[in-house]
Amino acid sequence: MTAKEQEEMDFGADSERMKKRTVEGGLLITFEGGEGVGKSTQSERLFHKLQSFGIDTVHAQEPGSSDLGNNVRRWIKRSNSSSPLAETLLFEAARAQLMFETVRPALDRGKVVVLDRYIDSTLAYQGYARGGDLKTIKQLNDIATAELTPHLTVLLDLDPKVSLARVSNKPDLFSGDTDGSGRVDNENERRFEQAPLKFHQSIRKGYLEMSKTDPRWCVIKADQAGHRIADAILKRVRRLLIDGNIPESIFKS
Ligand code: TYD
Repeated sequence: MTAKEQEEMDFGADSERMKKRTVEGGLLITFEGGEGVGKSTQSERLFHKLQSFGIDTVHAQEPGSSDLGNNVRRWIKRSNSSSPLAETLLFEAARAQLMFETVRPALDRGKVVVLDRYIDSTLAYQGYARGGDLKTIKQLNDIATAELTPHLTVLLDLDPKVSLARVSNKPDLFSGDTDGSGRVDNENERRFEQAPLKFHQSIRKGYLEMSKTDPRWCVIKADQAGHRIADAILKRVRRLLIDGNIPESIFKS
């Protein structure tokens, strides 16, 4: 059986129903987690899978995926001196741009948007880990996104001791454009990856705390084999697309 046939077996006639659902509403799926948990791999995997089912899907990442976002990313990685608020404002500016350029137009056309990092990254990194005021960050998130809340947020959860070892064992991660995104890091641009373990533990704690407050979260243990993680994500997305109670208007304003 070919891979394509296997996929059709997995979803069968449901893929038509899923397509119908997305045409009607648009769907925002975000991926969150600390450094080295496999967000990029899994979000791309989901993107390709949905595309292969004929579902119009867009993949983007924060803070990249726009010219402004790439500049913010470069600056953040090099800088050591910014305040949590300054960092937050930069990420929010990049976010507002991505909303304007990519996310809103795609959702308006009923597409699925798979986003690698979103509002919860700012709460976890600049809030829980860097001590920024959570209420202010939430307000700024709301402003930057016109209160666009994801329909589903996949949290890949992993002990930072394991995930950081993964990052430092990846020889080509910081030496070139490994993912085709044009993102090139070097040894001097590893700011958050090089932060103390305690910083990463606060990020994890923040994410886990947030995940308890809202049913949009789907927490997946990221110490499993990649294909198991992908299956668990797909199962949840499938449920969302077929049975989910997707609001008619996903924008509050
Ligand atoms: P990147 O190399 O794109 O990291 P990753 O692949 O882990 O997403 O760098 C982005 C860094 O910016 C990453 O360490 C997480 C951080 N970040 C924040 O601190 N706040 C935010 O709001 C966002 C979107 C990212």
